[in-house]
Amino acid sequence: MNKIILIGFMSSGKTSVARTLSIKKNIIHMDTDLAIEKRFNLKIGEIFDKYGESFFREQESIVLKKIDNSNLNMIISTGGGTPIHTSNMQKLNKIGKTIYLENSFEFLYKILKRDKESRPLFKMHNKNELSKIYNERVKIYSNAHFKINCRKKSLSDISEEISNFISF
Ligand code: S3P
Repeated sequence: MNKIILIGFMSSGKTSVARTLSIKKNIIHMDTDLAIEKRFNLKIGEIFDKYGESFFREQESIVLKKIDNSNLNMIISTGGGTPIHTSNMQKLNKIGKTIYLENSFEFLYKILKRDKESRPLFKMHNKNELSKIYNERVKIYSNAHFKINCRKKSLSDISEEISNFISF
């Protein structure tokens, strides 16, 4: 194994699953959102407010370049929009093994509502718009090397499933 990259819509559990696997397998965890927050010492919402979304998207691409240049083994959790912009999906597929954590829009929306403060996209769009964004993104996420159906599975079930088919 070299790099494992988790992708999927907001609230699909990318960060929690990556954290669990990193502890279980003793490998580095890199979260693209956290890397950007640390760099600017601001929360994602504050970066969106202060510099705008396209600036944030540029930062995501910069983080991907850094990951690509590193030869460390790691598990990476991405932001829900990371694969969507500037052919990042193709880049991610070259950087490592991509895994799409798939779930239904209705389920993800329910969780998203609970955690809306940290999700600027939730503030920018209503449910109908978010559902359209979801449908568009699914087409791109589906280019991942692997797809895990996460419906009715706990985070530990999902982590277990990944560790069964990826050799760490
Ligand atoms: C975004 C998802 C967020 C974060 C930012 C934008 C998106 O990450 O990168 O708020 O465009 O879907 P999570 O998927 O971890 O919520």
